[in-house]
Amino acid sequence: MTAQLLDGVALGQKLRAGFKLKAEELAAQGVRPGLAVILVGEDAASQVYVRNKVNACAQAGIHSEKYTYAPDVAPQVVFDKIAELNADPKIHGILVQLPLPGHFDADAVLEAIAPAKDVDGFRAENVGALMQGQPCFIPCTPYGAMKFFEEAGISLKGKEAVVVGRSNIVGKPMAMLLMHAGATVTVCHSQTRDLKAHCLRADILVAAIGKAKMITGDMIKPGAVVIDVGINRIQEGPDAGKLCGDVDFESAREVASFITPVPGGVGPMTITMLLANTLESAERAASA
Ligand code: GUN
Repeated sequence: MTAQLLDGVALGQKLRAGFKLKAEELAAQGVRPGLAVILVGEDAASQVYVRNKVNACAQAGIHSEKYTYAPDVAPQVVFDKIAELNADPKIHGILVQLPLPGHFDADAVLEAIAPAKDVDGFRAENVGALMQGQPCFIPCTPYGAMKFFEEAGISLKGKEAVVVGRSNIVGKPMAMLLMHAGATVTVCHSQTRDLKAHCLRADILVAAIGKAKMITGDMIKPGAVVIDVGINRIQEGPDAGKLCGDVDFESAREVASFITPVPGGVGPMTITMLLANTLESAERAASA
């Protein structure tokens, strides 16, 4: 079997076309959706992600503001900017790109964002609401992953889902969303014994580990749906410098029924759902 590709670029474009119309509708009502992005430090990957987010806003008719700070900036400077943006009616979403430098208390920074503008869905209120299945901002990467199932008509009811990785950004919210959708969910992590045995049970396998090509074809159940959240840069060999996922794509695609490529899978969908959350926040502001 050769897996069908779940194309995040195509799905993202389809959704973003609708977002542009929504942004125009809101602007006509006097509410132009706006996103503020804060980047601290010089992490190369974060710089690329932030640039992509700002460009995506421009294409979708969403106003954006970018604030960049040196790696050694005093945390108070960032707290002051967040306070200013919390009070700014032009801004409906505030995103602080992670990771932050070591002298920052990342949790305190995220909690400083007004809940109504927490379009990343990282604040405790949002996490609690997600857990209880209440309306909330769904964290963008797992939200984007869920859109693939919807688009491909893949039902999750009664399926065995295995999420590899337990981060606050991806693994935990992903598990919650899969569970709400009716899957039986196992979360594996660095202390899991016999990762392969868990993976081989998965009808739905989500890899969010941050280790290049860690999930290989022999760890995948024939016909499984594989969502690869990893974005890793290959360090050596003929492909050095290229991007790859947490899944070994070449061996996995021979076993899976559907698979997301890297690049071009989950990455573009993360940005797409950031736009969706920003629009949702602006809509709430428009109807308040
Ligand atoms: N760093 C990696 N992924 C994300 C994300 O989804 N949001 C933020 N703010 N930082 C990230």
